[in-house]
Formats: sequence, structure tokens, C-alpha cells
Amino acid sequence: YEDPLDLMDEIEQLKIEKDAKILAHFYVDGDIQDIADYTGDSLKLARDAVSIESSTIVFSGVHFMGESAKILSPEKTVLMPDLQAGCSLAESCQAPDLKAMQDKLRAEGRQIQTVAYINTSAAVKSLCDWIVTSGNAREIVERIPADQEILFVPDQHLGRYLMEVTGREMILWPGSCMVHEIFSLQDMLRAKKNNPGSVIIAHPECPQNILEVSDFIGGTEKMRQYVASVEEPTKFLVATESAMIHPLEKIAPRHEYIPVPGIMESTGETCACNRCPHMARNTLQKVRDCLKHGKPEIVWQDYFNQAKEVLERSLLK
Ligand code: 13P
Ligand code: SF4
Repeated sequence: YEDPLDLMDEIEQLKIEKDAKILAHFYVDGDIQDIADYTGDSLKLARDAVSIESSTIVFSGVHFMGESAKILSPEKTVLMPDLQAGCSLAESCQAPDLKAMQDKLRAEGRQIQTVAYINTSAAVKSLCDWIVTSGNAREIVERIPADQEILFVPDQHLGRYLMEVTGREMILWPGSCMVHEIFSLQDMLRAKKNNPGSVIIAHPECPQNILEVSDFIGGTEKMRQYVASVEEPTKFLVATESAMIHPLEKIAPRHEYIPVPGIMESTGETCACNRCPHMARNTLQKVRDCLKHGKPEIVWQDYFNQAKEVLERSLLK
């Protein structure tokens, strides 16, 4: 066991020695968010990776995030506390399967543009026309000419939600986020009833039955801005990864935040397990270790070149 305060001191020292900045997603442990130089949603962190001037980035998040940072900022060393931190969405869409689907649609003579959620591997990104995050998805979808069909990968729930808000039809890939998929509608409605006046905020990765009864739908940064805009102290039922409560409490401590419970698929029982196991692989020890040893590192791959073009066009322009 190492004292978190000692670890934090050591990390501060190493950041200076190694000319490094720490970027942390809102879903990693609060203590990592607290020592990070930049926190944010997927969109902001990808942009921060480009604009910051240090020679090294420690990306505390999941693999596709570190990979995107490297692709957008190849001259920087991008370290990750744990390279095994993956994502169920990215996993659900493999490049050869996507290629086969695109070939099939094109062989039918269909004009398609492929839009990928940023939660995908670089190999998948390199096959796509656009990359979206929860923060810019609507705007990008609205830019696509009406005579083009849209193939949206890999999140079926975000895709369905985008169809609803943009009025565009889409062909949806059958992927989903293992965390947002498990919220229990019944328990959420019970919590709403037990907390009169409470407001449900949900991430668009949630299934339709959750979004239908939510009062506010938005990605992590939009959620933060929303609670900050509500003056009256309010009870919020939060339908997203539970580490998100940390930045919400920080930006608007006047409110109360109640995590929405999930349902264990194996037993059908309610659980308080809305923690992404991949995000949870990030620990203060691993942040310290990767800074100290300069690894693990995201290493440049040839196919990053193609992914770079689509990422820049989608996120930086
Ligand atoms: P955003 O922070 O961009 O809303 O993404 C949520 C997410 O699931 C990241 O894995
Ligand atoms: Fe992927 Fe879901 Fe975890 Fe985000 S919360 S990294 S979408 S599995």
C-alpha cells in the first residue's frame, strides 16, 4: 500500500522532471482527475492533446483516447497508465468486419458515408469518413449531404438518438457500451419517485428506454455545463459512469448527485456497479509508474496516417 498523498507528490515532481502533462477523462478516479493538468470529455481532451506544449502526455483514460492523442500529436510521447484499458464499444467493431459491411453496401450500389464514434480503434477510424464524439456528433451528421446514406458505428444507442435529433436515417452497427447498457429503468423510476423534484441526466450511450424518461441528455461535458447552469439546489439522478459524479460535485457542489443503479446481467440483481472496468484500470500508482519508466507508450503505426486525416477533419476543423 502506498499513501495517495505521497504518490501525488511524487507525480508532481515527475511531471516537472519529464516535461509531462496529465490528461484525464471524467470517468477515471477522482484522485487522478485532481492531479491532472487537463480533464474533459473525449472531444476536449483530443483537442488539448494538440494544443498543449509539453513533450510528453500521460493519457489517463482508455486505449482509443491515447491512440487518438498520438495520432493528432505524433511528435509527442503519449504514455498510458495501462494499455489494457479498452472499451466494449471499440471492441464490438473490428476493422475487417466494417470493411466487409462497407463493401457489401457499395456492391449494392449505395452511396454511403461511414461515421464512427471516437470510441473505435485507429484501424476502424482509417476506414471512416467522419469521427464524432458526444460533443460534436449532431453538428457533423448535419453536415453530411442528404443524398448520402450514413453507416454509423459502433454505438447503436447513440446512433438511434442521433437519428431522432437530426431526422436522418442511419444504418446502425449493433454495438453498445457495457456501462450504459445496464441501467435499470425500474430502479431509476423508483429513485425518481422516492426523490420528489429530482432531475434525470443521461448520457446518449444509454438505451432508448432510459433516454425517453430523462430530463436532460448529453455527453459528459454537456452534463457538467447543464448542472452548472441550474441555480436552485437540485437532486440529480445520474445515468452515466459513476466517476462522473466527481466533476459534477466540483463544478456545482450545491446539488445532490445520486448514481442510477444497474442490473447485473448474470443474476438480474440490482448493483451499484456503474463503473467502467476499463477506466478503473487507471490508478495513481500506474500514473506514477508510467511517468517514472516512460512506458507503456502508444507507438506510431503506419495506418495512423489515414486515421489522422479523418480525425483532423472531424475534430479540429
Ligand atoms: P464523452 O466524455 O465524450 O461524453 O464520452 C463518454 C465515454 O463513454 C467515454 O468512454
Ligand atoms: Fe467504453 Fe463504455 Fe467504458 Fe466509455 S464507459 S470506455 S464507452 S466501455
